Amino acid sequence: MLTGITVVDLTTERRVDPLGIDEPRPRFGWRVIADRDGHSSSAFRIQVATSVDALDHGSHWDTGEVAVAGTTTTSYAGPPLQSRGRYHWRAQVIDQRGVRSGWSRPATFEMGLLRRDDWRARWIGSARTELASERSDQWHAGGPAPYLRRAFELDGCVVRARAYVTALGLYELRINGRRIGEQRLAPGWTDYRHRIQYQVYDVTADLRPGDNAIGLALADGWYAGAVAWFGSHFYGDAPAGFVQIEVDLDDGRSIVITSDGSWRARSGPATLADLLAGEHLDRRAEPDGWDSPGFDDREWAPVRLLADPGVPLVAGRDEGVRAIADLAPLTIESRGDGRFVVDFGQNIAGHVRLVAQGPAGTTVTVRHAEVLDSDGELYTANLRSAAATDTVTLKGGASEVFEPRFTFHGFRFAEISGYPGPLSADLVTARALSSVVDMIGSFECSDPLVNAIFRNSAWSLRDNFIGIPMDCPQRDERLGWTADAQLFAPSALFIADVANTLEKWLIDLEDAQHPSGAYPDYAPAVFEVAYGNAGWADAGVLVPWALFEATGDRRILERRYASIRRYLAYLEGDQTDGIRSGGRYGDWVSVGRRASGDLVGTAYLAQTSDVASRIARVLDHRSDTARWGRLARAARRAFAAAFVEPDGLIAGATQTGQALALGFHLLPERLRPLAAARLAAMIEEVGVHLQTGFLGLPLVLPALSEHGYHELACQLVTQEEPPSWGFEVRQGATTIWERWNGWAPEAGFADPDMNSFNHYAFGAVVEWLVRHLVGLAPAEPGYRRVLIAPRPAPGFTFARARHEAPRGSTAAEWTLDATRLTVRATIPPDASGAVRLHGVDRTTVTLDDQPLDRCRSAGGDSLNAADFEIGPGEHVVRAEVVPAE
Ligand code: BGC
Repeated sequence: MLTGITVVDLTTERRVDPLGIDEPRPRFGWRVIADRDGHSSSAFRIQVATSVDALDHGSHWDTGEVAVAGTTTTSYAGPPLQSRGRYHWRAQVIDQRGVRSGWSRPATFEMGLLRRDDWRARWIGSARTELASERSDQWHAGGPAPYLRRAFELDGCVVRARAYVTALGLYELRINGRRIGEQRLAPGWTDYRHRIQYQVYDVTADLRPGDNAIGLALADGWYAGAVAWFGSHFYGDAPAGFVQIEVDLDDGRSIVITSDGSWRARSGPATLADLLAGEHLDRRAEPDGWDSPGFDDREWAPVRLLADPGVPLVAGRDEGVRAIADLAPLTIESRGDGRFVVDFGQNIAGHVRLVAQGPAGTTVTVRHAEVLDSDGELYTANLRSAAATDTVTLKGGASEVFEPRFTFHGFRFAEISGYPGPLSADLVTARALSSVVDMIGSFECSDPLVNAIFRNSAWSLRDNFIGIPMDCPQRDERLGWTADAQLFAPSALFIADVANTLEKWLIDLEDAQHPSGAYPDYAPAVFEVAYGNAGWADAGVLVPWALFEATGDRRILERRYASIRRYLAYLEGDQTDGIRSGGRYGDWVSVGRRASGDLVGTAYLAQTSDVASRIARVLDHRSDTARWGRLARAARRAFAAAFVEPDGLIAGATQTGQALALGFHLLPERLRPLAAARLAAMIEEVGVHLQTGFLGLPLVLPALSEHGYHELACQLVTQEEPPSWGFEVRQGATTIWERWNGWAPEAGFADPDMNSFNHYAFGAVVEWLVRHLVGLAPAEPGYRRVLIAPRPAPGFTFARARHEAPRGSTAAEWTLDATRLTVRATIPPDASGAVRLHGVDRTTVTLDDQPLDRCRSAGGDSLNAADFEIGPGEHVVRAEVVPAE
């Protein structure tokens, strides 16, 4: 039956047909396409079955018709899902007129191994483990990457085969000469003392009757290699692998091949494989055919069986780190002394892939840097102790293609030396790695400089989401710093589908939570982690909230609630009469005057307890709602008493102080305009520049735009004199810098001890670009209600943004032609829109070519404003703007 309503884009745990999930109540999601504007659903129905055919005849679970308006998600609540179980499901919706859609095309999901006794594999490693004590004092030494293998025979045809794989360290799985899966740096970083992620691969087509071989390449990774400035071997001394391959044959038999004492090991061709130091490959040592049957491994050593770490194995929650882009060189300069300097035109996290042909034993060295120094040489001082150097020694003979597998570098430039022959553009590629696979948000406006700021933020996002949200990808750091993640989360969630990666990281954060309830400065935790610092620790509350706002998914809050409650108990004890100390960092990397620690701490206490109270309200925990609301009010009162002057000046007279007071609602209503005027004056005083550090930055521009200084906010964003984003862009930046003065005309490079050119924290400007310049924001969690509040500003003729929200494409665009404003809005099915126009002559407003007053009653507090509601579909609003007074 054709109804004009179709249910599409089915997801399970926010993934498409995932393989290997261990969530007992998976979340289902779908979208509706309606051929008629204005669709909204009044009910849905889900069926789950163990085969596609069974969906038609009595299913494993059937929700029946569930009458909830506008819902596009639900959680599985049927009989327990089985380990390895493969399930098919489909969805149907009924619209507000009672018209029923057809069934969606079925989607699938497959469970991982849910019980400990499902695992029969043993942990295995190479003999190198014994050398660990010798190596442990070699700071940053990194280790070689062992190869482990086993051959086996299958006496039947394979109908289904799955590989369940993980490692302490990094692994690459190979079967019969082929690499399995697309993931890099698997299984990813967790605190291996708490949990280890595993991946599941469909290897049905990789196995065959007769002889087969499995190869497992291992490397230190975060587990045994260098992490930040802490040296190597934090979690363990040497990598270990864990493989379980389950095969169903066509005669009904099932066979399990696991890592065990029958495997054999030797060192692989990488004499060094370390995330920070780099990878040294000796291709002469590559045992050709080692991952195929028929290879003679008699000279290989038996593997070592290792003790079970006794830690839960958990299914990976996102698509893992992948190669997301291959960049061709922009320029290759020969330096005449055997060195080539290659500019790839984009600062990335990844590595260089080379094609080379030369005599056996030729060693090619690749060094990496984000920027060049004034002599045009690689500037590597800011990498600190990260050697970030890959080498490859050629085997000789035919042309060889290679890339490192177990390291990544933050770079735009590479220096290649020892290359045999001339280096041309087709022989060298920069391969970008990231956990960010799907970009779901775009932004564009009439100013190319501002577009570059957005693009640079999007690249800093890609480059810094490598399994976890990191601070930077290049120096010996790359930690999951909590403030950075907290500040950038709303922007990140607009730009890309990072909800699963962030949700996973919140588990890392909880794993690192101190017994006192305090969250750490970074997660996963390594040495020397500190706890409870204002703006940092608060990520444990603010990131779940940002996720909820972007996705509308209450489950995220439910799962973190017990942990959040422990943190709030900690916060209650970490303040005196509402004043909380700012802790270690305060308004990190600000320039000029610095906001005081207590001011920052108290502001964050108010904000975090207020958000916690909202979380409690969503989950219907009444006494927590009230309790944390009281804590927030106490902090606000304390803030007002301690830091607010009667004329709206915040103690210390800093941009950040003013922005925190406004953004976190710490002021009585009547002081807000005064405080905003002070902020504007402070910005003008320093020639229209920002001086805020991490904590003030996301709040300044919204505070200006919301209090009558939108034009000033726009000037900050288009500012080209240093310090500014625009200055960075003019210097050729392709990512966001860590500090405003990363490089300055007279001073040159800032202190190399802390000067990354790829930090996303200041990329939090994206939130303002989208919500304030375009005027597209979630008015209700998950964009169920969308706020369209266009803010035309002098110097811009258009701005637009689009976001793939849970219910579908959500977009806003405004164009200004002299005084004629045209706004286009896209509201997905099952959502609604609230339009807010400022500075327009209300009598001229039309919606979809109808005078507004005839089709809607418009609200708004002045004749120069119009507020009205729109439904799903594409809309055009026109109005005449009134000149600003
Ligand atoms: C990191 C930051 C982090 C800060 C905390 C720096 O080294 O790169 O982004 O938030 O330390 O102090």
